[in-house]
Amino acid sequence: MAHYQRIGDVPPKRHTQFRDVAGALRYEELMGEEGFSSDSSLLYHRGVPSSIVASQVWELPDLSTVANHPLRPRHLRLPELIGDNEWKRLDPVTGRRLVLGNADVRLSYVVAGEASPHYRNAVGDECVFVESGSGVVETVFGAITYCSGDYVVVPRATTHRWLPDTGSGPTRAYAIEANSHLAPPKRYLSRFGQLLEHAPYCERDLHGPDEPLLADGDDVEVLVKHRGSGPYAQGGLVGTRMTYATHPFDVVGWDGCVYPYTFNVADFEPITGRIHQPPPVHQVFEASGFVVCNFCPRKVDYHPLAVPVPYFHSNVDSDEVMFYVAGDYEARKGSGIDQGSISLHPGGYAHGPLPSAIEASLGADYFDELAVMVDTFRPLELGEGGLSCEDGGYAWTWAGRER
Ligand SMILES: [Fe+2]
Repeated sequence: MAHYQRIGDVPPKRHTQFRDVAGALRYEELMGEEGFSSDSSLLYHRGVPSSIVASQVWELPDLSTVANHPLRPRHLRLPELIGDNEWKRLDPVTGRRLVLGNADVRLSYVVAGEASPHYRNAVGDECVFVESGSGVVETVFGAITYCSGDYVVVPRATTHRWLPDTGSGPTRAYAIEANSHLAPPKRYLSRFGQLLEHAPYCERDLHGPDEPLLADGDDVEVLVKHRGSGPYAQGGLVGTRMTYATHPFDVVGWDGCVYPYTFNVADFEPITGRIHQPPPVHQVFEASGFVVCNFCPRKVDYHPLAVPVPYFHSNVDSDEVMFYVAGDYEARKGSGIDQGSISLHPGGYAHGPLPSAIEASLGADYFDELAVMVDTFRPLELGEGGLSCEDGGYAWTWAGRER
């Protein structure tokens, strides 16, 4: 998706002989999307990138889902998923608990302090929002650091691992796993792919690796999540544990437009207006079957008779998922929503603020709120994580009745 980058040593001409100082050939690998017909990068390895010595079943965590039926809005309290000290033995990949999912995207949550195994998602791009914490993601392209508020975008099939720095506490992460590629919305881009002046962020806000990452080691295991069927399949996904003869982090240089990067939500410049601006002004990414938006601290509507919280709306084509990260989300005041909550407002049902929140918002000139929204175009189903942290009374809060 991103603009062209060149890191480390690459030969002056692609697909030509490239040797180390001892005269040994480097091994060139193209990581290309859409069958050689879209963005790609060329990586130059010290070892043979396909040198596996074992391939075994990796049993994926529970990815089963159940339909949102009978249909109702849901409130899920994600902090309840992880016990007080449980994070110390969890890692940001295998510790994920599936909250919501459909055929296009899986939304998971994890609180972690352990280093993850080496891992590769061959199903789609991952966009992991760091609610809090910091650390490093080591990848075949090089290392990237992460901190609170970062979206960590890892392209499909990128071998990587997470290394939380527990000195700043656990890493709390909301993983958005696409079954496709994820990128800035097309309307933000010029016909050649540059972010335009009206976009709420630009290339300077995207942070990829600065230098190659070279590691030594034999018989290195990599967990691969991929598509498949059979007795181990869950929702069309299976896992394989591959063992490589040499360490996969052996790339001396690469160039191209496919690579991991971070984007911090604090670098998103909100677009505001005299009257209420619709959610597309808050959009940050798009993928097949869903979009990602963020609601950042911002000046709010400044018409003298403005109603700063949203009007009731029925998103006839989508399910809407809000993850409440920080601040005080004005439209949900009085509903029990708190930091770490998720609300699911499904298609086929109109939603909006509580009447008391509408009155309370009048005259406000600033909202101190931070939330990440995923809108999906297919209905979402509940994963085991979502089912185990639901606030069952949320659906009835607009009517003011207990159930
Ligand atoms: Fe909404």
